[in-house]
Amino acid sequence: MDISKIRSDFQVFNDNPKLCYLDSAAMALKPKPVIEAINDYYSHLGVNVHRGVYGLSYQATDKYEEARAVIAKFINADFEEIVFTRGASASLNLVAESYGMNFINPGDEIITSELEHHSSHMPWMNIAQKKGAIIKYIPLNKEGRITIEAFKSVLSEKTKMVAITYVSNVMGYITPLEEIIKLAHEVGALVSVDGAQAVPHMKVDVKALDCDFLSFSGHKLCGPTGIGVLYGKKELLRKIPPIEFGGDMADTVKKDSMTFKDIPYKFETGTPIIAGVIGLAKACEYIDNIGLNEIKAYEYMLKEEVIKKLKKIEGITIYNENAETGIISFNIDGVHPHDAASVFDKNGVCIRAGHHCAQLITSWLNTIGTVRASFYFYNTLEDVDLFVESVKEARDFFNMF
Ligand code: ALA
Repeated sequence: MDISKIRSDFQVFNDNPKLCYLDSAAMALKPKPVIEAINDYYSHLGVNVHRGVYGLSYQATDKYEEARAVIAKFINADFEEIVFTRGASASLNLVAESYGMNFINPGDEIITSELEHHSSHMPWMNIAQKKGAIIKYIPLNKEGRITIEAFKSVLSEKTKMVAITYVSNVMGYITPLEEIIKLAHEVGALVSVDGAQAVPHMKVDVKALDCDFLSFSGHKLCGPTGIGVLYGKKELLRKIPPIEFGGDMADTVKKDSMTFKDIPYKFETGTPIIAGVIGLAKACEYIDNIGLNEIKAYEYMLKEEVIKKLKKIEGITIYNENAETGIISFNIDGVHPHDAASVFDKNGVCIRAGHHCAQLITSWLNTIGTVRASFYFYNTLEDVDLFVESVKEARDFFNMF
């Protein structure tokens, strides 16, 4: 990987060469080809898809649907299994609302975990409350991980759905999903995977994984905001009903009846997120060109460097030193994460502090929040050093009092 060449693709680094951006788990930066693809659509087309009976609209439709094919290939899905939404949260909510409201019954069990982002488990809490179902949490091990044994301890014939993260946005652990999905299927349960922190950082193959649903967002993948993907197995997408009704998704509409288009269109109501989809497809191509295996190994190398150096600083609690990805969660003892963040900001280091929309794991860690640094392929060993220096500076500054 030629990092300096990669960094030159990001205008934000050309504007701020010293920028130390360690918040890619919240949002990844945008390379020029993605911005150009969006600009191109608005400049040269800028018309609607699926509707216009004229050349420009046909061209826009072709671009939009070609983008769907690129995104499908990125996760090894079939074309019609890719539904566009406004983000991972919307995708996760779509599954819960559609499947949950129609197929979950009183007494059914839904398995989830304390590692979930709010968007992964809250939609199912809502379903459980409305349908009289029971939520079961996979007990985490001492490190805060989901293990197969712990999963087995909550799995039963009553389990109907497993709502689970692939990579935790706080702990950076990779869930052993292959085995979990196999076990869930053995009792007839479905698995809805939150792939928001996985798809941008490692090769995700939905067929090999055999997951039933997988949600992710574009903006964590160097794509635009406001675009997300729901992958669903085609037979399941055909089985579950739409949750939004209106333009484009309708087939025939009469005063007393209505039918919908086939998948994926029955879930895509109104004018689609055309520029978002085109930008996201370009982001997938950009990331594929670098190589997801290379990205994963590089992030891990950076994370290992950080951990090695952080462990030499006294007064630091690291919560996830054995994470397999580029996410590091820690606290400076006795310092509120937001206070620590102010020192990082002064040094041009962008990190996130707080509960990261994952309050269950914050409580499990018995803290009010953590400081989180998250690395991506455009970060450098210089970023590691500046970050570690800032940790020392923050510790020394606050320990003065
Ligand atoms: N879910 C994103 C994060 O973890 C925003 O920061």
